Amino acid sequence: MIHFRELANEYKTPLYVYDFDYMSAQYEALKEAFKGRKSILAYAVKANSNLSVVKHFAGLGSGADCVSIGEVRRALLAGIAPYKIIFSGVGKSDDEIREAIESDILYINVESEAELLRVELIAKGLGAISRISIRVNPNIDPKTHPYISTGLHDNKFGVDIQSAKRMYILAKNSEYLDPVGIHFHIGSQLTELDPIREAAEIVADMVRSLQAIDIELKFFDIGGGLGVVYNDETTIAPYDYAQAILGTLKGLDLTVICEPGRFLTANAGYFLTKVLYEKQNGEKKFVVVDGAMNDLLRPSLYNAYHKIEALTSKESEPRAVDVVGPVCESGDFLAKNIMLPELEHNDLLVVHSAGAYGFGMGSNYNTRGRSAEVALENGKARLIRRRESFEDLIALEKDLL
Ligand code: LLP
Repeated sequence: MIHFRELANEYKTPLYVYDFDYMSAQYEALKEAFKGRKSILAYAVKANSNLSVVKHFAGLGSGADCVSIGEVRRALLAGIAPYKIIFSGVGKSDDEIREAIESDILYINVESEAELLRVELIAKGLGAISRISIRVNPNIDPKTHPYISTGLHDNKFGVDIQSAKRMYILAKNSEYLDPVGIHFHIGSQLTELDPIREAAEIVADMVRSLQAIDIELKFFDIGGGLGVVYNDETTIAPYDYAQAILGTLKGLDLTVICEPGRFLTANAGYFLTKVLYEKQNGEKKFVVVDGAMNDLLRPSLYNAYHKIEALTSKESEPRAVDVVGPVCESGDFLAKNIMLPELEHNDLLVVHSAGAYGFGMGSNYNTRGRSAEVALENGKARLIRRRESFEDLIALEKDLL
């Protein structure tokens, strides 16, 4: 039982609250599912990159999947061992590649032939050998929202099997590259197992065909993507997920790397926002709150559903409302057409499933400072990011006037 009202009074709103014990339980459940195989869970830092969150996973033994050098630095700062850090992404700058090689992370996940040549050149310049994996695009439809689907040739991610093979041969013959892994990630919020199994089969076959030409990989990186319940979705159980993957790896001695983000943090997080007032335009009723699309973008960007619970002392019949924020965009809403009781100034709304891709996708649009973040652990609350002030927002400009 989380005391949302007390938290809102103490830390003010809008506010993100994360249940660290829930994150631990999710981590342990997934780790357990892969037992019996060498495995690394590399937390996808993009899902929630607060340093204390990353440190929490570091404490559980997690690695990190990073998509910018900034995330790599966060992971290192939070105490994740370099040999458990992966650096992915379709567009890495030279500086990022250089720093990743110098940081001696587990591997750079390469997403194109051009990038492979860049990594080789930079490694050569440093007199180093860069460990790499190649992100394969298995051309599988993951049956998720098109914006978070990544495993089709239509998407910008990874390379097709034929190109990947050429790239492995190039890497094997290079003095400056060491191909150690293979990677795929077909999408996020996956709720069907078949596309994952199919992708794993294609990639496992690729590993076998590489063995035949004397290229021995060590890491089989299955990406992230495990879906969670936002509303009434049927999700994949960790055990079934692990079994489906492991079933494709018969006869292969590989360490499985899994990059969960949403699964670990989404339902650990709550976004608290206070009611400013209600208004009515014709037939339409709005609840105007102090949180907005700059705090939680998912409803505006993906039309994503987040359950909203109203904490109010008055009893009344629920009616259909839109919950909207103060930002100057019609797309600024947290929910549309949901049933909520009558609400008064300062009543609290708890937006659920906000622990993944919530705070991290926030912005300062409309010169709104980003929310504070609070961790709950062993029944205790603590601040893990203070609220941004106006001074914070202008700090990088005011001396340049
Ligand atoms: N690994 C790679 C290579 C990825 O691209 C991603 C997510 C993950 C792992 C973690 O996926 P997860 O386990 O969290 O599904 N902003 C969107 C989600 C974008 C996901 C991008 N990549 C959202 O709010 O739904």
